[in-house]
Amino acid sequence: MGNGMKNCKFGVFGYPITHSLSPIMQTAAFDALGMSNCEYKAYAVEPGNLMEEVLKAQAENFCGLNLTIPLKEKIIETGLIIPDDFSKKAGAVNTLHFKGGKDGEIYGYNTDAKGAAKALEYAGCDTFGKKILIIGAGGASKSISLYFGEAGNSLKIINRTAEKAQRLAEEIAEKTGNVNVFGGGFESGWDDLKEADVIIQTTELGMGKYEDVSVFDQLSLGKDETNNKTKDEMKDELIRECLENKTVFDIVYNPEETKFLREAKAAANVRALNGMMMLVFQGALSFEIWTGKKPDANVMKEAVLEALRSKSRHESE
Ligand code: ATR
Repeated sequence: MGNGMKNCKFGVFGYPITHSLSPIMQTAAFDALGMSNCEYKAYAVEPGNLMEEVLKAQAENFCGLNLTIPLKEKIIETGLIIPDDFSKKAGAVNTLHFKGGKDGEIYGYNTDAKGAAKALEYAGCDTFGKKILIIGAGGASKSISLYFGEAGNSLKIINRTAEKAQRLAEEIAEKTGNVNVFGGGFESGWDDLKEADVIIQTTELGMGKYEDVSVFDQLSLGKDETNNKTKDEMKDELIRECLENKTVFDIVYNPEETKFLREAKAAANVRALNGMMMLVFQGALSFEIWTGKKPDANVMKEAVLEALRSKSRHESE
């Protein structure tokens, strides 16, 4: 173009959007492929303005968008887009593709769960045929549960509010035809951990105001028969007994290591991963949908890591 105008526009809509790492990550991917005509920016879009803003983006010739909280569910209600089978079942769309340009249809996808699956694979965990325990029953849990439910894994979903996990499990079983999907509360949490091969933590525990809480803190420790162990010793023993040699995945990436991962790693020999590569792969999958090109996930990862670390440096100053 020569005049600095970008003719291939992308972005992420969310509310709030200030902390999004997607612009840094996607820009790194474009740069690495020499796609200097592409730009990716973050836009604060209130839920009430979503339809108008998506149409405006289309009129301005955007190629694609990501949607984040609280717009992923909202976009389906607008009836504006054609969601693919998975995002329709998940009830959440994080990627829009203006495939036919200004006057074409707008297609919707959900790359979150596939991003989670690719993060596990990247960490060396083969989930095929594995028993998966999912902690939490919110939006993130729903997409991930649906993905592994469809893949035929045996699933248990546990949640502080048991009924929510039970309802979600029924919904997943119904939508996938997988009969090995169960839901419940935290009462039998240690047994559920023991039963599973792969544990995926999807709640807000470990983040923000819950920084000093892990799901282990919310499970009953039972009785100390010898009466001479501290609560922490009992907790460590149970963690080792239930998690030894397993994969433990917390979808949180900020902080880099939640209390849940820290405790699991300290007490047992585990393969531990946080949500950073899930963030990277959901972005890489969106990128592929829009451009037909496979971006370098490691370049995207480095950009995210650098941004997270410089952010935490600023915060501690
Ligand atoms: P997301 O879309 O990120 O999954 P969400 O839909 O708000 O977020 O879901 C939040 C999840 O975190 C829920 O599983 C919630 O449990 P409840 O259904 O019992 O509320 C869980 N969660 C949030 N705060 C929690 C806490 N203090 N202890 C245990 N679980 C908590």
